[in-house]
Formats: sequence, C-alpha cells, structure tokens
Amino acid sequence: MSNIHDSKSRYGLVTRLLHWSMALLLAWQFITVIAHTALEGSGLDKFAWSTHKPMGLLLMILVSARLVWAVASLSRRPVAVSLMAKLGHLALYALMFVIPFVALLRQYGSGREFVAFGVTLMPGFSDGKISWMIEPANLLHGNLGWMLLAMIIGHVVMAFAHRRLGGEDVLARMVGR
Ligand code: HEM
Ligand code: HEM
Repeated sequence: MSNIHDSKSRYGLVTRLLHWSMALLLAWQFITVIAHTALEGSGLDKFAWSTHKPMGLLLMILVSARLVWAVASLSRRPVAVSLMAKLGHLALYALMFVIPFVALLRQYGSGREFVAFGVTLMPGFSDGKISWMIEPANLLHGNLGWMLLAMIIGHVVMAFAHRRLGGEDVLARMVGR
C-alpha cells in the first residue's frame, strides 16, 4: 500500500527513520563518552559532555517510540536471517532501553535538578538522596554502555558480512529502494 509500514521484504519509512536517527545520535553519544574518558578536560570534552544527558533523554524517548512501533509491526517485518540475528536485535533493544532508563532513575534519585532543552524535567530536592534509584546506574550504566558499543560494532560488521557472504542482502532491507 504505502512505504510507511514494514513489509516482509523491507523495512518501511518509520522504522528506517527511527533506525538511522538513533544510529546517528548513538554515534554522537559515544563520541561524548570517548571524549570524556580519553580527552578529559579538552574543548571537545567540555562541549560534547554537556550534551550527554539531553541526547540520552532524546534517545530514551526515541527508543520508547521504536519499541512500540516494533511490537505493532511484528507480523509484517522481514524475517530475521538467523536465531543469532534475532537475539542480537533483541539485546540491542534491551540495552538501548536499560542504559538511559537507569541513568534517568539515578538522575532523579540524586536529588539534583535536571534541565534539558530548556525544560525543567526534574526540579530536584534537598532532603537527601534515594539510594535504590542511584545504585542500578552506578553498577550498570557505564558497563552496559560499553557493551552496547561493542554490540553495535558487531552488528555493523554482520550487516556487511551477510552481504559479502552471498546470503540475504540485509542492508537493502534498511537502505534499499
Ligand atoms: C542511550 C543513551 C546513553 C548511552 C549509550 C550512554 C553511555 C554512557 C557510557 C558508555 C558512559 C561511561 C563513561 C565512562 O566509562 O566513564 C556513560 C556515563 C555517564 N552517563 Fe550516559 N549514556 C546514555 C544516556 C545517559 C542519560 C540519559 C544520562 C542522564 C540523564 C546519562 C548520564 C551519564 C553520567 C552522569 C555518566 C558518568 C557516570 C557513569 O559512568 O555512570 N547518560 N554514559
Ligand atoms: C547505533 C547503531 C545501531 C543500532 C543500535 C542498530 C540496531 C538495530 C536493530 C535493533 C535492528 C532491528 C530492526 C529494528 O528494529 O530497527 C537493526 C536492523 C538493521 N541494522 Fe542496525 N543498528 C545500528 C546501526 C546500524 C548501521 C551503522 C548499519 C549499517 C551497516 C546497520 C544495519 C542494519 C541492517 C542492515 C538491519 C536489518 C537487518 C535485518 O533485516 O535482519 N545498523 N539495527
């Protein structure tokens, strides 16, 4: 009917917009953490790191929309090339959700004000911190973040590998006509 929706042979416009906009924002998100860890104190670090929380919030909103869209489109999507591909995509979704979620939870629990894009999203409070909201991110946010980067690299390698190995041209489903 239209190319807005997914079909069995290719992903539609909405899925592609979500996939590629999030790919760009995640690339930026990793530039911010690499600058913050490897180039601490540099001009790039100062500028990039100041965008980490608002970009993370935007990614949280986008992944929520993407999850709803994925579930609603489940029956008409291209079939995964293998069980590994299916599990890999599921893991990517889980990480894309959990990483910003625990960070936002920590942000609230810290009692500090959180302003993003000029909007006060969390006014903050002064009577202590909420430790059960802080602990998950202290434990998981950075570690899962690096794990997501490793999985993304694997995902990109596999997208090209499938093409070269003469199997299903999966790239065409996400970029093709
Ligand atoms: C998908 C979105 C996000 C990704 C991929 C991501 C990734 C990361 C990574 C890899 C680190 C570790 C850097 C290091 O090892 O030092 C980190 C640190 C941090 N992130 Fe995020 N982040 C995201 C969203 C957010 C959000 C929404 C917030 C807050 C509202 C946030 C706040 C922080 C803070 C405060 C740190 C430094 C403390 C720590 O390492 O846990 N991030 N982030
Ligand atoms: C931040 C980076 C990325 C993430 C988190 C990501 C995540 C995902 C996920 C979850 C899917 C399943 C379909 C969906 O729900 O959208 C998917 C599909 C796909 N991605 Fe990515 N992706 C990223 C970057 C890339 C890049 C850079 C490429 C290019 C090489 C790529 C190529 C593909 C292809 C070809 C598919 C379709 C696979 C199939 O039909 O089995 N992705 N991606």
